[in-house]
Amino acid sequence: MNKNIFTAYLPDERVDGLQKVTGQAKYTAEHAITNLAYGVFVCSTITKGKIKNINTTKALAAPGALEVLHFENCPKVPGYQPSAFPELKNVGEWRGLKVFADNLVRFNGQPIALAIAETIESANEVAKLVEITYEVEPHETDFDTLRKDPAKLKGSNNYVRGKNQAYKEAPFFVEAEYNIPIEVHNPMEMHATIAHWETPDTLLIYDKTQGPKSTQSAVSKLFGLPEKNVRIIAENVGGAYGSALRSWPHVPAAVIAAKKLQRPIKVVLTRPQMFNLVGYRPQSWQKVGVGADANGNLLGITHYAISNSSRYEDFREGIVDASRFLYKCDNVDTDYKILPLDLSTPTWMRGPGEATGCYALESALDDLAFKLKMDPIQFRIKNFTEIQQESKLPWSAINLKDCYAKGAELIGWKNRKLSPRSLKEGDWFVGYGMGVGVFGAGRGTSTVRAILHVDGRVVLESAVSDMGAGTATAMTKVAANSLGIAESKIKFVMGDSDLPPGPTQGGSTTTSTLGSGVHLACESLKDLLKDLAIELVDAFKLISKEKIGVEAMKVFSIDDKNISVTAEELVKKKNVPFLDIVKTSPGLNPREIQRATNSFSVHFVKVNVHSKTNEIQLKHVVTTGDAGKIISEQTARSQMLGGAVGGIGMALTEEVKIDHTTGKITNATLGNYIVPRHNMIPPIDVWFTNKPDPYINAIGAKGLGEIAIIGFAAAVSNAIFNATGKRVRDLPITKEKLAKVKA
Ligand code: MOS
Repeated sequence: MNKNIFTAYLPDERVDGLQKVTGQAKYTAEHAITNLAYGVFVCSTITKGKIKNINTTKALAAPGALEVLHFENCPKVPGYQPSAFPELKNVGEWRGLKVFADNLVRFNGQPIALAIAETIESANEVAKLVEITYEVEPHETDFDTLRKDPAKLKGSNNYVRGKNQAYKEAPFFVEAEYNIPIEVHNPMEMHATIAHWETPDTLLIYDKTQGPKSTQSAVSKLFGLPEKNVRIIAENVGGAYGSALRSWPHVPAAVIAAKKLQRPIKVVLTRPQMFNLVGYRPQSWQKVGVGADANGNLLGITHYAISNSSRYEDFREGIVDASRFLYKCDNVDTDYKILPLDLSTPTWMRGPGEATGCYALESALDDLAFKLKMDPIQFRIKNFTEIQQESKLPWSAINLKDCYAKGAELIGWKNRKLSPRSLKEGDWFVGYGMGVGVFGAGRGTSTVRAILHVDGRVVLESAVSDMGAGTATAMTKVAANSLGIAESKIKFVMGDSDLPPGPTQGGSTTTSTLGSGVHLACESLKDLLKDLAIELVDAFKLISKEKIGVEAMKVFSIDDKNISVTAEELVKKKNVPFLDIVKTSPGLNPREIQRATNSFSVHFVKVNVHSKTNEIQLKHVVTTGDAGKIISEQTARSQMLGGAVGGIGMALTEEVKIDHTTGKITNATLGNYIVPRHNMIPPIDVWFTNKPDPYINAIGAKGLGEIAIIGFAAAVSNAIFNATGKRVRDLPITKEKLAKVKA
């Protein structure tokens, strides 16, 4: 083991890998459209208040200038005020900031105007020349201070099972507070929208989105158009992590501008705009108390959390949820509130809720194990349960113990010492830590079309998009397994809302949801071939359908395999260019199966911390996943690698900084918002239980995008504690912060 991530080799390949690495794959902003004009946002320089005046005289005099769109000249948008458009059937209120709808400034960097010009260069110039004056009002952005004022909090959802705060009465307990700053998705590809009104009531949109169908629905409702009049193309998505789960202000801005100018408009966000115009992981404060008896049985878990939202939308996520259900414990209480601030709205970011919550819970459990003088893995095994503790339903599958065992073996856990500062390599303290992750494993509905061509190729279609997880590769494998043919004969087509409706890629559900649809379509195609054999081939006429088999696209009589016909021959006999079938796979109702469905992960970290400088160096990572059957080994492994790197960033580097006197983000560039550099990434081993979940779907696979990061930051923190005896509870953990803590 100990394979370096750059040298590890796996035999399978991504079906779209070559196109992506050779630059042939087209991303949203790369699409060329005749007569395209360019829009650039002019953003507020104040944090809260009103726009007094917008002067566009100089801007409109600039070369190439076409228009400056703002609240005073913005056309009426049905979705901004549905009641004013009773004649429109499919109108619905736009969710989120209604850009250019009024003169209010709600956060620093809010789009105030769209400067539109013939070229991107001109548009940038026009944007600079727009003169705006404001009436400034006092703002509130300082989470750390304001969250202490109960009057400013809202949305309490108190939960109590058994006794409230029972941990305090346990013979052994720890309680501590945890802080996580705002983190941003910042995928490589900037968010972008090209809006093109092909006729007065039909729209073609190229958009960076995780859900072509959900974007189609949002945009149709914005203008009260029938869904079929709006086509969304998202062929390739260059990363998103949740930022493209919904449509942000640049989408209506482009659509409104294109309508007003009667020209296609492209809006591409700038990197600084990526920090607050497409959501972010909210800032959070958590307090966790955990108590146990001397044998390590958990007697109480208490988990409180607060996270920020904006003034104009309530965003909340499942920060305290895992504490309620993951470990055997009769006394659990949780409460979660939000704090509205003068910031833009946060959103789901990889492992939403649980990444935040499991960081605190898994850190607290590590502290408690230490207090009990127990090995942290043994402590978790002691409190392991096969019954989801909140619903009291048995899990459809839970193989956490396999993850503990294999991960411990791969990281060399036997070398770990219970007491910190007992292992040294030269001037470096050595520590081992682990943390658990859990996320819901769902299955939604999906529709897939399978097309069998006369040459034997099979094309599968669904309107989904793929932010990079490898959906087309995984779906090709599902189809190849079902049909028993080579992957090279299968093509998965996606990224267009005109295709049969597929799910939004999010919440670790694509493989389960879409995989079920692909499997069903392929199985139905085989069934259709049996019918065709009976219809078209004399030798099959007297054979009952149950006595007919299909393997590797060959239909045969089960009793006499000499009676057979190939799928290609059947298409030819039918005298059609292709055969096709459209199938809808239903979503999973957990009540139907009376099981709780989750995916799990356990992450292991070996760290060195310099005894004098407190420099932190990760030496080895082992990340293990329990997500049912692994469909595509390579892309699943890559998901875990990416999650580990994201987890390292969360633990050690990532932090959006806000100057609270101005309300402005001060590090909105990738030079100043630090993500892990190559020299911070140690060798990473990935291992999966790879046991099919018998309940979740026909293919046995669960999602793993979120569990790849959930629990990871705790594993790093726990390893640093094991090395040094120091616990930093405010992320990111830096050597400066470590220096200030006593061992
Ligand atoms: Mo994921 S945060 O559901 O894109």
